[in-house]
Amino acid sequence: DGKVSSGASPIAGALDRVRTDDTDQPLTTNQGTPVADNQSSLKAGLRGPTLMEDFILREKLTHFDHERIPERVVHARGSAAHGYFESYGDFSSLTRAAPLASAGKRTPVFVRFSTVAGERGSADTVRDVRGFAVKFYTDEGNWDLVGNNIPVFFIQDAMKFPDLIHAVKPEPNNGIPQAASAHDTFWDFASLSPETAHMLMWHTSDRAIPRSYRTMQGFGVHTFRLINQDGEAVFCKFHWQPLAGTHSLVWDEALRICGADPDYHRRDLWEAIESGEYPEWELALQVFTAEEAEQFEFDVLDPTKLVPEELAPLQIVGKMVLDRNPDNFFAETEQVAFCTAHIIPGIDFSNDPLLQGRIHSYVDTQISRLGGANFHELPINAPIAPVHNNQRDGIHRQALNRGRVAYEPNSLGGGCPFQTGQAGFASFPEAIHADKMRGKPEKFADHYSQARLFWRSQTDAEQNHIINAFCFELGHVQTPAIQTRVVSMLANINPRLASAVAQGLGIAVPEPMPLATDAPIPDFAPSPALSLRHL
Ligand code: HEM
Repeated sequence: DGKVSSGASPIAGALDRVRTDDTDQPLTTNQGTPVADNQSSLKAGLRGPTLMEDFILREKLTHFDHERIPERVVHARGSAAHGYFESYGDFSSLTRAAPLASAGKRTPVFVRFSTVAGERGSADTVRDVRGFAVKFYTDEGNWDLVGNNIPVFFIQDAMKFPDLIHAVKPEPNNGIPQAASAHDTFWDFASLSPETAHMLMWHTSDRAIPRSYRTMQGFGVHTFRLINQDGEAVFCKFHWQPLAGTHSLVWDEALRICGADPDYHRRDLWEAIESGEYPEWELALQVFTAEEAEQFEFDVLDPTKLVPEELAPLQIVGKMVLDRNPDNFFAETEQVAFCTAHIIPGIDFSNDPLLQGRIHSYVDTQISRLGGANFHELPINAPIAPVHNNQRDGIHRQALNRGRVAYEPNSLGGGCPFQTGQAGFASFPEAIHADKMRGKPEKFADHYSQARLFWRSQTDAEQNHIINAFCFELGHVQTPAIQTRVVSMLANINPRLASAVAQGLGIAVPEPMPLATDAPIPDFAPSPALSLRHL
């Protein structure tokens, strides 16, 4: 029935090293010294000052004083679970990625779901994008698929990410609003960045208020590459499809739940797994060649665009089951470190300029969030594949590397690992002949055709939800010019949408925002696949 416990999985075994059970054990200090009295400090007389020598009190207070670490700069609020990925077949003709090597092969995973904007203690059911980050502990190292529940993104280039996040986070002078995008700075940025148009449609749709983490799709967003044993490459988009279907809240429910149970999604995931209702997703690949990509009317390196399923159908390759809650929220959910740079043989990047920036940012932020360069040794982050290299030392190093030699080349041998050549990771040898420059490819300038496609894929009721969401969000904006600019963007998407939002805000319908390109905007046929309704 699919309810197979991963308790005996390699990652569970690896975590056994650090699991402790303090039940009925004598209380000790961190040095293992038994503690006789954990209730009162050592004083000069019962009413006298506390003595400096009370090492037991001082150790207890000192440790407590340092219990908090910085929260993630984005995606601070999250919940996670363990499980496994099971391949439906041998997909080695497409990719040599270890998890897809044979039918029935299981790879342990740890998955963290999150909101983006809110702080660590913010409510679960706010309108926001949701993170969907999967760490595969594969035989060939950790592969992190760090995705979202929406298949496109706000911006096209990593250069703009800090600006986007500064705009969406609470305003820096007063810290308002917590965990919501309904404020001037977010809409100011969005209205001056028309590339956000497609994402804004998803963001104001029901997709941004999921009913449960268990009923969310997940998307790798960027175009990646798959590489097979012969070194042949295809482009690929990754999709997670929840077997329970994709379901959202309605706005009034979301608002009430925010107040009544801010932990709604966290509780739901925890309780489902505790009761044996293990959430499941299928992994689907959208595969296309570089030659096919050339023919698309949009650029596959542009993360504000999806690939309609008419152009590249979904190929289901396996199933993920989450069947075990973490033992310790801090040690696992908080300390897990996902990174788009964590790929394995068979997977490679594309030149998507947003993805390229992400490859840098994750480990960089984790060096300050988790302290130093050795957080890969934390049990939740350590691969089950063996680690051998010449990296040494650093704060809180755990490994006791032995031998004299920690460099290459060497003639002394003894303890030095060797590079694996063909057997190891090799980047796809893409030929590049280009001038060094900034700027964007021409097709990146089409900001509206997929936004229109999304609008048309929605039912009347869903379109009304989008209108209401724009009215609510923009209704909190205090600068009229920002409201007008957003509605002028909407006028490029659909006249009813623009006029209904203008009416809701009590403003006149403005002229459509000038397009960023003179090129005619391609128009796709309405696509049932776009709304991914086959679930
Ligand atoms: C978390 C940067 C775009 C998904 C983070 C973190 C940073 C970051 C610094 C915090 C990581 C940590 O403290 O462990 C960036 C940059 C981006 C970008 C620079 C663009 C240039 C995206 C996109 C997606 C995404 C497009 C989705 C496809 C996530 C997720 C997390 C995250 C899911 C949370 C991971 C977890 O649960 O620990 N991002 N991000 N990010 N990001 Fe991004």
